[in-house]
Amino acid sequence: MAVEILPLGKVDVEPGTPVKKMKAVVIRPDRLGEPIKAMKIEEIDVPKPGPGQVLVLVKAAGVNFNGVWASLGKPVNIMKYTGYDFHIGGSDASGIVWEVGPGVKNCKVGDEVVLHCNQSCGQCPECNGFDPMACKNQRIWAYETNWGSFAQFCLVQAQQVLPKPKHLSWVEAASYGLTYFTAYRMLVRRARIKPGEVVLIWGAAGGLGIFAVQICKLVGAIPVCVVSSPSKAEILRELGAELFINRSEFDIAPKNGVIDSKTFEEIKRFGNKIRELTGGRDPDIVFEHVGYETFPTSVYVCDRFGRIVICGATTGYNLLFDVRYLWMRQKEIIGSHFANAYDAWEANELIIQKKIKPIVSQVFEFEETPLAHQLMYENKHFGKMVIKVQIQDANE
Ligand SMILES: NC(=O)c1ccc[n+]([C@@H]2O[C@H](COP(=O)([O-])OP(=O)(O)OC[C@H]3O[C@@H](n4cnc5c(N)ncnc54)[C@H](OP(=O)(O)O)[C@@H]3O)[C@@H](O)[C@H]2O)c1
Repeated sequence: MAVEILPLGKVDVEPGTPVKKMKAVVIRPDRLGEPIKAMKIEEIDVPKPGPGQVLVLVKAAGVNFNGVWASLGKPVNIMKYTGYDFHIGGSDASGIVWEVGPGVKNCKVGDEVVLHCNQSCGQCPECNGFDPMACKNQRIWAYETNWGSFAQFCLVQAQQVLPKPKHLSWVEAASYGLTYFTAYRMLVRRARIKPGEVVLIWGAAGGLGIFAVQICKLVGAIPVCVVSSPSKAEILRELGAELFINRSEFDIAPKNGVIDSKTFEEIKRFGNKIRELTGGRDPDIVFEHVGYETFPTSVYVCDRFGRIVICGATTGYNLLFDVRYLWMRQKEIIGSHFANAYDAWEANELIIQKKIKPIVSQVFEFEETPLAHQLMYENKHFGKMVIKVQIQDANE
């Protein structure tokens, strides 16, 4: 028999029981702005899975920067693209398969799962022989589409479902998908990381960085970790990192769209610091996602024939750099965006094998979802934040 709504944090019915309504953290077009104001809890109808879709009861949900972008409505008001007049973010989740739509074969009601956040049409040549990331209908679930994990139930394509690593709690399992799978594709697939290479990692203690560091250690590369305070280095030391740069000791950001001579001297000093740490080597790979403030430095410090792999631009997307250092030294700039199902599956296997571990720094109640995003917006967070949804104890 159908129930009206589940109590928040508790699951008192069998998987598969029809549920009419759910609590969700919702962004609306008329309140875009800082996350603390843009995100509000509302009660809405539980969506019905269509062909090839899966409804998942959300146990826990990971916080990512795209929730900040969706709240701000910048660089785009995402609802203009999704066609909905509301948006439920949350591109990471752990949970239980609750209902499957027609044609779904890879999971069944009751399965314990984690989700990756790439959606594509599944029917075009790119999806069926090349790379679903090249599909013209490729979208990031719960950013460019609706029905994410900041709700009691979320709606996904069946190909997004991956097995939950059994040794992880629900919170840990919800913490890694978006950032880890992105970092995996950036380094392994796109930048073709090799043992012994030096990798400069911006924001090494952040969501992406914490996995970039672990991937480097796993393949035998040498991470040079950029952080903004010594305290952020501690967790990275525990993961085996040894080389650190405190970026607050350097003034490398362009000023008003110009790299003046003083800033360029600072960029050179930053490059010398890398050489001092590595015994004279320049980075073979630069792991970029900061954008405007760091990109001139990334291009300059990268070694000859090196690769700058970039997936984001937190500080601005109109980038400046002196192109002479790119062509004369034959460097590559490589764009990278999330991951396809195969990248995600491969990366998830490394978690199952306990070779890569998720690090959760803070756990929030469902009602605190806007606060968690506000902390991220203000860069006052550390590592990974996770929201408890249909669990009561973070260790469940
Ligand atoms: N395309 C994709 O598929 C994809 C996937 C994931 C993320 N992204 C994007 O990548 C970016 C980072 O995501 P994240 O989850 O890692 O965010 P995060 O957890 O906030 O970490 C980013 C780190 O960058 C560092 N940082 C911030 N401002 C900086 C500055 N001005 N100069 C140098 N470093 C700075 C901070 O570390 P310190 O203060 O310690 O230096 C911060 O911890 C976001 O823009 C996100 O949207 C894109």
